[in-house]
Order: sequence, then C-alpha cells, then structure tokens
Amino acid sequence: MTNRLHYGATAKVLHWLVVALLAVQFLIGWFMPDVHAGPPASAMTLHISFGISILALIVLRFVWRLTYPVAPESSLPPWQRVTSEAVHWLLYALVLATTVTGWLFASFRGWSVSYFFLVPLPMLADKNADGVHAIDGWHQIAEWTLLIVIGVHIAAALAHIFIYGDRIMQRMLPSRP
Ligand code: HEM
Ligand code: HEM
Repeated sequence: MTNRLHYGATAKVLHWLVVALLAVQFLIGWFMPDVHAGPPASAMTLHISFGISILALIVLRFVWRLTYPVAPESSLPPWQRVTSEAVHWLLYALVLATTVTGWLFASFRGWSVSYFFLVPLPMLADKNADGVHAIDGWHQIAEWTLLIVIGVHIAAALAHIFIYGDRIMQRMLPSRP
C-alpha cells in the first residue's frame, strides 16, 4: 500500500476529538473530589467513562493509522521525520498505558462502575489488595509522562509555525476546499 501525503478528515476529527477528551480527562483527574476514596463518586464515574471513551478512540485511531498510513512531510530533514514518527508512536503507547493502568486500579479496588451511568462496565480484574499495592502510582507516572510527551509534541507544532514557518500545522487542520 502506498502512503498518502495528507491526513484525511477522519484522521483529523479523531486527532482533535482525542485532544478535547484528554483535556477534559486531566481536568476531572485533578479536580475530582475524593479520588482516593471509594466507592467512586459521580466524578469518578465520569472520569472512568471518559477514559474508556479515550481508550476506544485511540484504538480506533491506531487501526485507522495502520490502514491509511500517511507519509511524513517530504520537505522535513530526516531527523525530524524520525523523531516526529517516534513521538507519535509514543503518544499512542502512553495513552494506552494511562487508560489501562487507570482501569486496572479501579478494578483492583473492586469498584463497579457504569459507562456514563447507563451500562455497567466490565472490570479487568477482581478486587485484590495486592493488586492495588502493585499498581499504585503507575497511573500517575503514565499520566505525567503522557503530559510531558504531549508538551514536546505541542512545542514541535509551535516550532514549525513560528521558527520554521512551514506548513506542518496545516496538515492537521481542516483543509480548505
Ligand atoms: C488517558 C486517559 C486518562 C488520563 C489523562 C487520566 C488522568 C488522571 C489524573 C490526572 C488523575 C488524578 C491522579 C493524580 O495525579 O493524583 C487520575 C486518577 C484516577 N484515574 Fe485516571 N486518567 C485517564 C484514564 C483513566 C481510566 C480509563 C480509568 C479507569 C477505567 C482511570 C481511573 C482513575 C482512578 C481510579 C484514579 C484515582 C487514582 C488514585 O486513587 O490514586 N483513569 N487520572
Ligand atoms: C494543541 C495540541 C496539539 C497540536 C497543535 C497538535 C498538532 C499536530 C500536528 C500538526 C500533527 C501532524 C504532524 C505531521 O505532520 O505528521 C499531529 C499529529 C499527531 N498528533 Fe497531535 N497535536 C496536538 C495534541 C495531540 C495530543 C494531545 C495527542 C495525544 C494523543 C496527539 C497525537 C498525535 C498523533 C498520534 C499524531 C500522528 C498522526 C496520527 O497518527 O493520526 N496530538 N498533531
């Protein structure tokens, strides 16, 4: 299969949808009352529901990316092509790690949680104190590492706008007819 030269509408919509949901997710995570207490309050049900939505979307995006690969911008020097690809892969891996550690944490605590108060969500494991002990802290490590890599990704986008003055940012923006 030959690589496309531009991101299509689906890739762009999925990119910005995940960005918006991640912003909501970090805000709920930091401002959630009683995060460490159980059983989960409404804010935790929202956090977990948004988190599962992000997980579903990131898997969908990843499959989409593999099905419709897009070549890096040809005008970029090789080191930028390699590093931007590496950062993109890392972003997928870290979103996956953050969502799975969160889901495992909630599972080991024995919480039964619904998806937006509608349908019960399956838990990944049974209640398990050793599991809580083992996973404790990993969700925070994953979420902070994700935040740092997102920072690098945004800094690169800004560098392309203000330093290189090229059209990299346009690749992820709605295209003009
Ligand atoms: C990429 C998606 C996610 C992000 C960015 C995120 C972010 C956060 C943040 C910022 C906190 C506050 C914890 C702190 O730093 O002290 C938190 C806590 C928590 N999150 Fe997430 N989260 C995500 C996905 C999930 C998912 C999918 C679940 C469960 C299904 C989940 C379950 C939890 C739990 C149980 C806590 C409380 C942890 C504790 O008591 O120490 N998170 N999350
Ligand atoms: C304000 C925030 C953001 C800006 C300005 C931005 C900008 C961009 C741009 C310009 C590209 C295209 C790069 C290229 O030429 O290939 C891109 C791709 C990408 N971005 Fe972002 N991004 C942002 C936030 C995020 C976040 C939070 C994630 C976390 C998942 C993310 C994940 C990706 C991935 C994985 C790609 C590769 C394309 C794909 O697989 O669909 N971005 N971004």
